[in-house]
Amino acid sequence: MRLTRRYRFAASHRLDVPAFSVEENRRLFGKCNNPHGHGHDYVLDVTVEGPPDHTGQIVNRETLDTLVRERILQRLDHRNLNKDVAELAGIVPTTENLAVLIRGALSVDWPLASRLKKIRVSETDRNMFELEA
Ligand code: NI
Repeated sequence: MRLTRRYRFAASHRLDVPAFSVEENRRLFGKCNNPHGHGHDYVLDVTVEGPPDHTGQIVNRETLDTLVRERILQRLDHRNLNKDVAELAGIVPTTENLAVLIRGALSVDWPLASRLKKIRVSETDRNMFELEA
């Protein structure tokens, strides 16, 4: 059985590869290369899988919420992803890379980490990135 729980956070970013020329970056990222950056209202879906335990739950909602709040939302919400997130230093803050960071942060050091099945990060209603845990 699977449970998917939804979270939201807002953050800004600018897509730019410093080693590339201004023209190359513009061609590669279009308006996402705008020097002043831009924001997204991200939607994060966290899916856990397993049988219900003696409480009838796959995972306690409060446990999962606390984990996501402390490891993800408090670090990303209302942040500049280019500057404020140590793990993204030197990394282009695409939503692909954001998804990898989120999976890494949620997949270790809590009792039900092995039940983490998938994370999905929606950047817009047209761009959704899924990663198996
Ligand atoms: Ni963007």
